[in-house]
Amino acid sequence: MERTLCIIKPDAVKKNVQGNIIRMISENGFRIIGMRLIKLTSEQAGKFYAIHKERPFFKDLVEFMTSGACIPIALERENAVAEWRKLIGATDPAEAEEGTIRKLFANSKSENAVHGSDSVENGKIEVGFFFPESEII
Ligand code: CMP
Repeated sequence: MERTLCIIKPDAVKKNVQGNIIRMISENGFRIIGMRLIKLTSEQAGKFYAIHKERPFFKDLVEFMTSGACIPIALERENAVAEWRKLIGATDPAEAEEGTIRKLFANSKSENAVHGSDSVENGKIEVGFFFPESEII
């Protein structure tokens, strides 16, 4: 079984669509093996997105991710990384397919409702960032 990390981002929590997203997770064959409601600190967000540190949008990304509560969710299923990316759609909601989470709920490329790990390796690392193995259900 493969793991991937979903984060329901502050824009989606503010819109109160976390229930819709969790329902889509369950209806699409993912098992929730960890879930938290937290408000990230700048240090946590900066560490999580360290790979984007040199990008021009890094500061805004950290600001946005710390602007309200978010919900990291560890997911498990066969081919979890690719299947989750398919279900969330393109980073930019304008380019996302109909019926995808970002098409339905995202505001923009930066306020894009959900996060998804971009590789199997990062799926493992990112799940571990929020959920120590001893807390995985
Ligand atoms: P996420 O999948 O969480 O991973 C990195 C995030 O950076 C991405 O979603 C977007 O929210 C954000 N991002 C990526 N590219 C851009 C961009 N060109 N402008 C603003 N934000 C971006």
